Amino acid sequence: MIFGTRFPFNKMKNEKPRILVIDDDLPILDCVRMSLQTEKDYTVTTLNDPVKALKLFYENDFAVVISDVKMGKLSGLDILKAVREHDDRIPVVLITGSSDEETMRRSIHLGVYEFLKKPFEISSLIVTVRQALEAHKLRMQNSHYEHELKTLVQERTAELTDTKAKLERSYLNTIHVMVNAMEVKDIYTLGHSERVTAIAVGLGKAVGLGMEELRELRIGALLHDLGKIGVISDVLNKAQGLTESEYDIIKQHPIAGAKIVGPLGLPDTVSKIILQHHEWYNGEGYPYGLKGNDIHLYARIVSVADSFDAMTSKRVYRSNLDYGRATQEIYKNRSKQFDPEISKILQDNRELVLGVLSSKISLNDLLE
Ligand SMILES: [Fe+2]
Repeated sequence: MIFGTRFPFNKMKNEKPRILVIDDDLPILDCVRMSLQTEKDYTVTTLNDPVKALKLFYENDFAVVISDVKMGKLSGLDILKAVREHDDRIPVVLITGSSDEETMRRSIHLGVYEFLKKPFEISSLIVTVRQALEAHKLRMQNSHYEHELKTLVQERTAELTDTKAKLERSYLNTIHVMVNAMEVKDIYTLGHSERVTAIAVGLGKAVGLGMEELRELRIGALLHDLGKIGVISDVLNKAQGLTESEYDIIKQHPIAGAKIVGPLGLPDTVSKIILQHHEWYNGEGYPYGLKGNDIHLYARIVSVADSFDAMTSKRVYRSNLDYGRATQEIYKNRSKQFDPEISKILQDNRELVLGVLSSKISLNDLLE
């Protein structure tokens, strides 16, 4: 079937539709031709050789085919099948004997448009031809509109895809700017977000996350501390001895961060990472005291990555731990602060995590 692949629609508007009549019985063929030629709005071609007729059919644009069923070289069913396979918009009318029920059943199965039972009235022939021509016209129009619609949908889809890619690039650039703005406020954590992202992706790969999941994890990890943009620099940079109220301010940064990204239309998991990365596995974290698997997996991963980077980064007020000690410290706090399985994965896959860390995944990687 090649429905919808040929569009001689415009041609149809300007030229008279052509009808092909095939019958090896010459007197009947002459009778049909003479009857149809009285009509002026279509042209008629008649052939008594079905093989030649089929060849002619393939070489020309016919709107309707009328064929006898019982012919020497090819049957009307062969003609019907060939026409339908070539272009199923062309109606085929079969001339049959009144008792040939099996032929009629098979013809219907093959998609015959109408039967003319012998002997038939000239008026029936003319009415059937007019209806078949109308059916052909409608089918051609439908396939033309279908084609137009398909083209339109393809064009709009391409435009949308392009717009989506531009929007995605735009919001990732915005994220880049936001992370930079947040990090310049905190002299101790410059580059922290990117390192946490690299560690989290390493852990995510070891956990078995797919590409799309890793992409969400990357964005969430990158933005996990975004809410600190709302915390004054003096508090963020205070080396030691935060007052209770200052600590309360810092504890608001997951909620503030989730509020900032809310209107961006990012995946829900990104907000969850931001909101839950300070929750503890035993329920003693903040801001909501969520426990165990109520904390999203990605947030549990980022929590481990966040602490690992904090422990291995130098601070003015304390020395940093080496990677081995930091891994041990996290493993020691499994089931307390950290997810026990992720703590174990960090311990078992330290080389993988450090490998990802040393490859320095940049924001440009996120843009791809
Ligand atoms: Fe944080």
